[in-house]
This record gives sequence, structure tokens and C-alpha cells, in this order.
Amino acid sequence: MKTVSVIAIDGPSASGKGTVAARVAAALGWHYLDSGALYRLTALAAQRRTLALDDEAAICQVAATLDVSFLEGMILLEGDDATELIRAEAVGEGASRVAVLPSVREALLQRQRDFARQPGLVADGRDMGSVVFPKAPLKVFLTASAEERANRRYKQLIAKGESVNISQILQDIEQRDARDRARSVAPLQQLPDARLLDTTQLTVDAAVRTVLDWWKEVSPR
Ligand code: DC
Repeated sequence: MKTVSVIAIDGPSASGKGTVAARVAAALGWHYLDSGALYRLTALAAQRRTLALDDEAAICQVAATLDVSFLEGMILLEGDDATELIRAEAVGEGASRVAVLPSVREALLQRQRDFARQPGLVADGRDMGSVVFPKAPLKVFLTASAEERANRRYKQLIAKGESVNISQILQDIEQRDARDRARSVAPLQQLPDARLLDTTQLTVDAAVRTVLDWWKEVSPR
């Protein structure tokens, strides 16, 4: 069977990797995996059941039996539209907490690998290149300064009409980065074989072009 081409894009919270990854997938006509959504959905399902987010056995059960459907532009959790709900700050915070649990990561592994279908997959997250798709021919570590990421998140939340404080957002981003980097299983890290894409000074278009150019360099002709 022909192996499926995968572009793995990892990076910290609010770096814009999701936007870039989705645009690269659309440009290539490939599938797209937002792996963070699976951690967010697990956290949301656990919060709905009022489970403690450090109860590993219970959260693992939730992850293993997660009833989700990824439709065109919409994510359903247990049949309900959860597309916007999983973007809430509290759910992102919960996702970062359930993501430290090794059995939860294990429970979500095959579900993520199942997204690798022809003609190819662009996957974004924290451990796409290290754990989920270690043989991906192109690995990108996409980042931006914490200040720039806080600024981007601030603009998004303001546009949604939420009342937010930029220094609180910066603090949350720094805390989440620290948790994602410090965990013992699949920590956020730039791999030696990943190309660094710092988007602090780049537009989304320029970041997308860079990934597509890199893919041209490494893709088998
Ligand atoms: O990319 P995001 O902000 O949607 O991710 C939410 C949380 O999920 C993040 O704090 C860390 C976790 N996560 C992870 O541990 N591994 C992934 N592959 C994706 C996300």
C-alpha cells in the first residue's frame, strides 16, 4: 500500500499553526487534522460529566469512547455542534491539563493516525512529528513570540465580543507553554529534523507559502 504523505506542524498555543496548516491542506487538496481539537473535545466531554481533570482513569475512558464527528467546517460532540464551544479559554486550559495524562494520549493516538488518508494529510499539534507521525517527510515547528501570540489571541477574542485583558492572556499563554513543554510524555519541543518557522513578523500568506515551498523541496517527484 502506498504510504500517505504527511506534513507535521507543531508549535505552541496561539501560534497560528492551525490557520496555516488548514490553508496548506486546502492548497494541496489534502486532509487536515487539528489534533488539539481532540484534546479540547476530551476536556469538554469531561467537564460536562463534572469529572476531575486529573482523574486519569475516568478521563482516559472519556477519550477512548469520545463520540465525535469532524464534518466540513463543523465538529460534533455527542451529536451537538461543539465547533465554537471547544475554542473557549476554559476548554483550552482543560485540554492542556488532560493532555499531560499518558493514557489519554495513548487513547487518542490511533484516532489521530486514522486521519492519514490519500492524497495526504497536514496535521497540527504538539507531537505530530515526534509521536503521531514520526516518519513525516516534512516537519515544521511553527512559533511566534509569546507577546505576538497574546496579541493575536486578544484580537480574536475582541472580535468575538469578549471582554479580555491582554496581560492575563499573556500570562495564560506562558503558563500553558510551560505545562506543554514540561510534561514527561510527548512534550512540546522543536525536533532536530523539524524546520523552524517563526511567524512573529510574517503574514499568514507568507507562512503558507514557506511551508508549500518546503514541501516542494522534500516531496518525492
Ligand atoms: O492546539 P490547541 O491550543 O488547540 O491545543 C489545546 C491543548 O491540547 C494544548 O494546551 C496542548 C494539548 N495538545 C497536545 O498535548 N498535543 C497535541 N498534539 C495537540 C494539543
